[in-house]
Amino acid sequence: MKTLYLSAEELNMLDALRRKSEETYFHSRNVSKLAVALGISCRLSWEAIQILRMGGLLHDVGKLKVPSAILNKKGSLNADEMREMRRHSAYGEMLLRGTAGVRDESVLNIVRHHHEKIGGKGYPDGFPENHLLVQIVTVADIYDALRSDRCYRKGYDREKVFAILYADNGINRRIVDRLYTVSGPALRNASGFD
Ligand SMILES: [Fe+2]
Repeated sequence: MKTLYLSAEELNMLDALRRKSEETYFHSRNVSKLAVALGISCRLSWEAIQILRMGGLLHDVGKLKVPSAILNKKGSLNADEMREMRRHSAYGEMLLRGTAGVRDESVLNIVRHHHEKIGGKGYPDGFPENHLLVQIVTVADIYDALRSDRCYRKGYDREKVFAILYADNGINRRIVDRLYTVSGPALRNASGFD
């Protein structure tokens, strides 16, 4: 069974991300852990779980190219700033493919498409259907973002987060069901998700 490891370039990018935005760095670690737990719960292959681990860690690495004034802004973003922020998923693919020389299309697919939505309302490409591994990272990403404190709000409690997730018809409901199980109190305490 092949194990994927972060390359020196990828580690350097994560170090740089930690220096630029600790919030994004720790969020990426949480998303990776959650995505792996979901992959195990879905009985995916070892290879798929490795891809989820890497994709979770690297999914927001494109925020390295988003100006700090936007990334760390305390307050809502204006339309131009939001447009730039939304470029981070395409930036991430570009950085990994170019600077880091990543050739694993499954990992690159997660990085580029983790903000796509079922039905095509996401970005950057508006794909109406995405690979299961992308959908898993999307759900883990939204969950962790809503659970975490932000400069403009406190993190939501678990029940409120699931109410939001179940109301979102742009994400895969079966994955949300799985997440409800794997993020429960017993596993949460054991795994340090929150
Ligand atoms: Fe993102």
